[in-house]
Amino acid sequence: MSRNYRIGWLPGDGIGWEVCDAARIVLDAVGFSAEYVHGDIGWDYWCSEGDALPQRTIDVLHNVDAAMFGAITSKPVKAAEEELEAKLKCKGLVYRSPIVRMRQLLDLYICLRPIRAYPGNPANYKEGINLVVFRENTEDLYAGVEFFPVPQAVSDVLAVSSKNFAPFAQLSGDDYAISCKINTRKGSERIVRAAFDYAVKHGRKKVTCVDKANVVRATDGLFLEIFRTVASEYPSIQADNANIDAITMWLLKNPFNYDVLVAPNLYGDIVSDLCAQMVGGLGFGCSGNIGAKVAVFEPTHGSAPKYSGQQKVNPIATILAAKMMLEWLGETQKAAAVEGAVARIIAEGKVRTYDMGGTATTQQMASAIASAL
Ligand code: IPM
Ligand code: MG
Repeated sequence: MSRNYRIGWLPGDGIGWEVCDAARIVLDAVGFSAEYVHGDIGWDYWCSEGDALPQRTIDVLHNVDAAMFGAITSKPVKAAEEELEAKLKCKGLVYRSPIVRMRQLLDLYICLRPIRAYPGNPANYKEGINLVVFRENTEDLYAGVEFFPVPQAVSDVLAVSSKNFAPFAQLSGDDYAISCKINTRKGSERIVRAAFDYAVKHGRKKVTCVDKANVVRATDGLFLEIFRTVASEYPSIQADNANIDAITMWLLKNPFNYDVLVAPNLYGDIVSDLCAQMVGGLGFGCSGNIGAKVAVFEPTHGSAPKYSGQQKVNPIATILAAKMMLEWLGETQKAAAVEGAVARIIAEGKVRTYDMGGTATTQQMASAIASAL
């Protein structure tokens, strides 16, 4: 008998509810015993409270063993402002992605994205693909340090500190924008180490660093330098690096040349979508946001508003995210059972959602997986 866990349950909006309900069907069927604590998150809370991730939800996340998150709608700055309730307008509220904030507020520094082609999935790019992406999850271009318009004080500092700033120095603050790419030694080292530790633990042969250190010298240079230092501590694991642009070609050319990938935040975001498409698309992309104390598991897809309420989308990504949660909690047998059931249903090919060329609903897919346990 497993212990009774406390699990944060944050369906979000759009199809988030449907895919989370689907994952619950499977978690219940595998005998996972938990108290689920609901957390408000998503577009509705932005419109009504001016905060898509209210403090009460952050408090929930501080008091659970792990959490599942569905999906949320994001809109550009102006559209977001327009949808605020009248009383909240013109207060200078700025919409920031709640998932990005959650990663930073809870220091969920590892974004773990396993990429596996389950045999018989008609949407596989090639059979046999089995990669793992480790994406740094709290800093880099996602640091949230941005300027538009650019204050004079920032412009002055840049003018003094970099001769490359000369072409911009004459512009007025409104004529350009700055988003800071901030990479720390600590942030880079802990994600690289996590990737190598994972490789050792799971019998993986190689770790590849994804960067653009030849051009983005300071930040990616630091990341690559740290990668090389850490790699030298793991002589049994092969280590190499690839530029973010080149690896998108090479991964398509031969995905079997890669094993574990580790990347700063934005490159990890990009490369993990490419990888997800190679194993069937976002209906199969699952993700763990993992910190030292708590972890939040999610499908990597968005809230797909056009499919919301239709029971149409593939819940496998969320079911695999639930499987990752079980693994992280140490419920390895239950995790293996869920993955086995997913693999069997895919291989049998009788129940397929629209993205796999079938007509099964979200619920039908979840029920089929639950019955295969
Ligand atoms: C992801 C998503 C998010 C990201 C979005 C929704 C903010 O693309 O989890 O990969 O950019 O990290
Ligand atoms: Mg993404």
